[in-house]
Amino acid sequence: MTTLITGGTGFIGSCLARLLIESGERPVLFDVAPVQGPLMEIKGQFFFEQGSLAHLPTLMDCVEKYGVSRIFHLGGMLSLPSEKDHVAAFDANVIGTYNVLEAARIKRMSQVIYGSTIATYSKDIPGDMIDDRTIQRPSSFYGVSKTFGELLGRFYHRKFGLDFRGMRLPSVVGPGARTAHMSIYNAWAIEYPLRGLPYVLECDPETRCAVVYFKDAAQALMNLAKADPAKILTRIYNLAGIFPPFSAKELVEIVRNRIPGADLTFTPNPVVVELLRELGSLRIDDECARSEWGMKIEYPLEKMVEDFIQEFERYRN
Ligand SMILES: NC(=O)c1ccc[n+]([C@@H]2O[C@H](COP(=O)([O-])OP(=O)(O)OC[C@H]3O[C@@H](n4cnc5c(N)ncnc54)[C@H](O)[C@@H]3O)[C@@H](O)[C@H]2O)c1
Repeated sequence: MTTLITGGTGFIGSCLARLLIESGERPVLFDVAPVQGPLMEIKGQFFFEQGSLAHLPTLMDCVEKYGVSRIFHLGGMLSLPSEKDHVAAFDANVIGTYNVLEAARIKRMSQVIYGSTIATYSKDIPGDMIDDRTIQRPSSFYGVSKTFGELLGRFYHRKFGLDFRGMRLPSVVGPGARTAHMSIYNAWAIEYPLRGLPYVLECDPETRCAVVYFKDAAQALMNLAKADPAKILTRIYNLAGIFPPFSAKELVEIVRNRIPGADLTFTPNPVVVELLRELGSLRIDDECARSEWGMKIEYPLEKMVEDFIQEFERYRN
């Protein structure tokens, strides 16, 4: 089996690549961006193809060249870049996901695993609890595009029998995240102080948003892919992340204790505050992920901060 990771040189994609390599695979990474960061150290252990998901022939060439039989689809544009340039996000997220599913259908692949997001929900629901049956009425372009990807994947499952599975990730935290998104403060409030730089959080100090450490997210993608098909009833799953959700202020306090002199301040940005308001007050039920394929969190808040610091130091150069 040859596994392709779209967005393979990105933050979550490169963490997943390391896990696949540890499990004995030599994955193919497909991305518009070049190989960088910790991947540079293990360059000989994966294949890399540079190209855009929006161009089906490029993706098909890659799939044929390596005989790809399953795809982890993590490539695309995140919340803030999508809000800024919805035309580019349409190409990357909507056309890109369609192309991934077409490639999987044409090549009769065994599986596609999709990285969706809790930003497919909004406050436009009754009550404040989200479960896997809650209606998805996203207000951001990002959320709209990811909801499309989920629904299109369900269509390919029903019509073509493709083993499509997905998870709605909360904010994923870890060192090396390069792309700004609405909840990036959870990662950069740790990383900037480690680099000796000041950091201004653009959210309200009381903001609570669901967070998962990148190692837990990558392991969850692996576990979902491996799960017994007979147990996959829900198909696309909420992940609630670290429980209980912590506030930005609590995170800042932990970082200040762990990294003396950390220069962290708050200057709320109305765009970010508005996007976060949509999700910050919602509670996430991930019972289906836990009962159907055993989702669990190995990194609660303090352990996450500790491991983040160790990972950062390991790859500092
Ligand atoms: N980071 C988070 O907090 C988070 C939360 C929920 C869901 N997700 C989802 O997880 C996936 C991975 O996110 P990430 O945090 O690693 O982001 P990232 O920006 O680090 O990685 C995404 C990668 O996709 C690539 N890409 C963008 N457009 C492309 C295109 N047209 N063709 C090929 N590659 C393209 C980028 O170059 C980048 O390397 C995304 O699909 C995102 O929607 C992320």
